[in-house]
Amino acid sequence: MKIIEAKDYQDMSKIAAAYIIKKVNENPKIKLGLATGGTPIGVYSKLISDHQENGTSYQSVTTFNLDEYVGLTGDHVNSYRYYMNVNLFNHIDIQKNNTFIPRGDVDDVLKECDDYEQLIANHKGIDLQLLGIGANGHIGFNEPGTSFDSETHLVQLTPSTRKANARFFTSLEEVPTKAITMGIGTIMKSKEILLLISGEQKREALKRLVTGNVDESFPASILKSHPYVTIIADKAAIADLKVHC
Ligand code: F6R
Repeated sequence: MKIIEAKDYQDMSKIAAAYIIKKVNENPKIKLGLATGGTPIGVYSKLISDHQENGTSYQSVTTFNLDEYVGLTGDHVNSYRYYMNVNLFNHIDIQKNNTFIPRGDVDDVLKECDDYEQLIANHKGIDLQLLGIGANGHIGFNEPGTSFDSETHLVQLTPSTRKANARFFTSLEEVPTKAITMGIGTIMKSKEILLLISGEQKREALKRLVTGNVDESFPASILKSHPYVTIIADKAAIADLKVHC
């Protein structure tokens, strides 16, 4: 794992956006894996500004999102489809039918999981996967204890994750209890991974990732065995951790 230290959230977003833009320019048909949550908002905003100012094109780019809440339609303000449209897709020239996110509003959720895994495989996998991390080490919605071999699956969200995500809803009760997520095995098949970590509340997670063992009790630890992972972390997350990877 390579670690890049950013000054702050804005700087982390700037470095990550530049990284992604370079990859898109090198390979206009790149398949990007995307994340939601608070962490990548700044990156998406910088991708939009760059598209408007420099014309970086996403015409031939395909995207696969990590996860989606079960029970929300794509036009629900808290669905990840809605988030992606509002925070990125509506403002760049990507073809919406090349943007894939699991459907949380289907009758047969298990079939949706299998179909999503197959869809990624049919596209010959993800070239660059953007990730955030939960304070408990989750990646996607893969909570502690998830098998490292897991494929796209249905998850029961933990109370801590629901609580962390309640900030995007009007109340904790509104936060769905289930989600569909790419599995850890799915994520690990990506050719390259870019993990963003920002803020004091992620300090322990970063420390455990760098210094701890590879263990299913801390899902992100598996990233240590991926050959091509870059972490961009800001000073608040790195704190006094001396990182030499
Ligand atoms: C989002 C996702 C999650 C988040 C993680 C961190 O698609 O899969 O794993 O990356 O929960 O969330 P934030 O960025 O809100 O701290």
